Amino acid sequence: MIDSFQFSSLPEIIFGAGKRHELAAAVNSRGKRVLLLTGSSSIHNSGHGEEIISGLKAANLELEHEVIAHEPSPTQIDQIVEKYRSAGTEVVVAVGGGSVMDAGKAISAMIPVEGGVREYLEGVGEKKHPGDKIPFIAMPTTSGTGSEMTKNAVISEVGEEGFKKSLRHNNFIPELAIIDPEMMLSCPAKLTAASGMDAFSQLLESYLSTRANVMTDALALQGLKHIKRFLLRAFLEGDQNLEARSGMALAAMFSGITLAHAGLGLVHGFASPLGGFYHIPHGVACGSLMAPVFASTIDNLLEQTDHPAMKKLIIISKVFADFKYKHDMEYLQAFKEKLIHISSLLEIPLLSEYGLKEEGVQKVVEHTSHKFHPVTLTKTQMADALKIRI
Ligand SMILES: [Fe+2]
Repeated sequence: MIDSFQFSSLPEIIFGAGKRHELAAAVNSRGKRVLLLTGSSSIHNSGHGEEIISGLKAANLELEHEVIAHEPSPTQIDQIVEKYRSAGTEVVVAVGGGSVMDAGKAISAMIPVEGGVREYLEGVGEKKHPGDKIPFIAMPTTSGTGSEMTKNAVISEVGEEGFKKSLRHNNFIPELAIIDPEMMLSCPAKLTAASGMDAFSQLLESYLSTRANVMTDALALQGLKHIKRFLLRAFLEGDQNLEARSGMALAAMFSGITLAHAGLGLVHGFASPLGGFYHIPHGVACGSLMAPVFASTIDNLLEQTDHPAMKKLIIISKVFADFKYKHDMEYLQAFKEKLIHISSLLEIPLLSEYGLKEEGVQKVVEHTSHKFHPVTLTKTQMADALKIRI
């Protein structure tokens, strides 16, 4: 029998090569005064930035433009909101990676309400957001966070007392997501690797989550098959292989849906304090910790072959295996090695390259939540997972 489950709404989705050309008409039907957010470089180097700006101007839209160069901070969100709150901005469009989409989601939600974004952040502020917002359209240029599918915007403050927290409401799901794999052809290899590992970890963690359901399982499994087939190809030949970009775009989109409905696990539990205390890009934190976290997860479940997560780990291990007709334990061992191999082929940096030292490990462990991870790692296992990446 199928276990009971709930599934909430999704954005309207337009997916396919060349679909960016539908942006101007989609904006036009929602408002005339548009705030466009883009990232700092690759979109402009590729020529897509200029193409999008001229397309919006040709549709007689009043266009303002801001650049989001890093993961958005409360101060940056407040400064942009302050500028546009009284300007009558009617639509926010974000064209970029996860940071740009999170910024767009937060700005569209803060324009109609009083105060600063910090006051509404989960675990930081006291106020409850009423859910008012102006329309928001997301067009991703990386295949990673899946933020174009979710109802939360991640806002970061980096430092000793740093945090990575969410502005969240059911209404914050974008009105429309336009996912055009051609937009990803110019994504640099390093970013393709980190964002791809983010999508990979999101799919695997939501598949194994204690909150997973039959619908998230279907999407996560399909997404993981696309990761196996296309992640390395997107990294190695990303500027010409549209099939690989398309497969990764779909995997990332599925990962956004599954994380929003099933939740995440310990890799993302680690990514929050790591991103708060250090300038570690989210995808690098996730990519770096996939192999050690899942090695310990498998080890802790070895005696529990009936555990639902163990059954799923065997399924995934078989998806990623390069052989057939072996014992389940051989697939699990091969999967642990495969994760190490993938992060090495993708040249995922060590966490120490971003300042994590042995003496900082305990503080990260203390601030890490397991979220919906299927098994609890000991504090020593958690510390070891970090230390192996120093
Ligand atoms: Fe993530």
